[in-house]
Amino acid sequence: MENIMVTGGCGFIGTNFIYYMLSNDEFKGRIINVDKLTYAGNPDNLLAAEKKYARRYIFEKADICDAQAMAAIFDRYAVDAICNFAAESHVDRSIAEPDAFVKTNIEGTFRLLELARQNKEQLKLFHHVSTDEVYGSLGVKGRFTEQMPYRPNSPYSASKASSDHLVRAYFKTYGLPVTISNCSNNYGPYQFPEKMIPLMLLNALEGKPLPVYGEGGNVRDWLYVTDHCQAIWKIMQAGTRGEMYNIGGQCEMANIDLVGCICDLLDDMVPRADASPQRNLITFVKDRPGHDRRYAIDFSKLTDELGWLPQETFESGIRKTIEWYLDHQVWVDQIKNGAHYQRWMKQQYGGDEKTSPL
Ligand code: NAD
Ligand code: TYD
Repeated sequence: MENIMVTGGCGFIGTNFIYYMLSNDEFKGRIINVDKLTYAGNPDNLLAAEKKYARRYIFEKADICDAQAMAAIFDRYAVDAICNFAAESHVDRSIAEPDAFVKTNIEGTFRLLELARQNKEQLKLFHHVSTDEVYGSLGVKGRFTEQMPYRPNSPYSASKASSDHLVRAYFKTYGLPVTISNCSNNYGPYQFPEKMIPLMLLNALEGKPLPVYGEGGNVRDWLYVTDHCQAIWKIMQAGTRGEMYNIGGQCEMANIDLVGCICDLLDDMVPRADASPQRNLITFVKDRPGHDRRYAIDFSKLTDELGWLPQETFESGIRKTIEWYLDHQVWVDQIKNGAHYQRWMKQQYGGDEKTSPL
């Protein structure tokens, strides 16, 4: 793989993946980042890559649904592998406004697959980045394995499940060389602060309420983003074509415990002027409709076949994450002062004066 097209590279995981790849001794080729720049995409994330790796990093603004534009980019850079991150990715937004999820996640993946099929001779791999949420929700016991049936519960997970099925079908039907990864919740630098961890972190720093859905008993498995990037690269290099691989952090936490943990760390790292504990800011708010109770991942296939294990512990990863947000106030302010973000926060949390983080 010499010319990898990374779609959605200006988002959270895509940005981290591009830096991971450009600084990786095992990869000497070029990254062609194609991103539509939705509210979640920020080209400034990659300014340092543009400077440091001017000959190996290329950015093209385009929509993965735009077949013509994507074909032109594919030809221009002699693309020989695609890694598809581009997606609408926030569950709450998919509940409020599902249209874009169907468009980008399903139709966009379909258009990319068609492009890949038309260029099958030169394409070494189509890697599709997906989520554990396609499996639905677990009870108190068990973990998701690759053999489990898909039972998506939100418009987001249903759209990702559909795209996974299309990717699989292109392997079975057309022999396209594909791999799929299904990963648990990520956290780390560059995550848009609508997602749980950066939202809680930034609200706490401003002394705003921390809106925990329901009673905070829902469980997620957390993975530091660089570990996800490493897993994707391993799968791209050596994963069996046509196969899917689960990726997880071995780090299950109930939301209320996670938020409590962030509060305690902030008390330690940036104590409030009046020394009051950040936990005082926790506020229980109306639950998300269809809220999946628990996710937990069995990623033994990835460990057994490709030797991958997460490197970061939650303690080390969350500290790095907090430090990154503290060091990137300009990045944070740009998003928080934007009309789009303010509108979303008001729509999602603004109804109740006591709980609104505004
Ligand atoms: P994100 O929302 O931060 O970034 C998505 C990026 O895709 C943005 O840069 C956006 O501009 C771009 N994009 C959206 N629509 C596009 C289109 N039509 N054409 C081109 N670009 C478009 O998302 P993320 O959290 O970085 O997630 C990346 C991928 O990883 C997604 O496919 C998501 O489903 C998957 N995933 C995310 C997590 C997680 O915890 N964040 C976990 C597992 C899997
Ligand atoms: P999120 O980061 O949106 O990821 P996902 O829904 O894909 O798992 O949410 C993680 C968990 O945190 C999820 O159980 C919902 C919960 N949550 C809250 O309790 N409050 C919030 O304000 C948000 C955004 C999420």
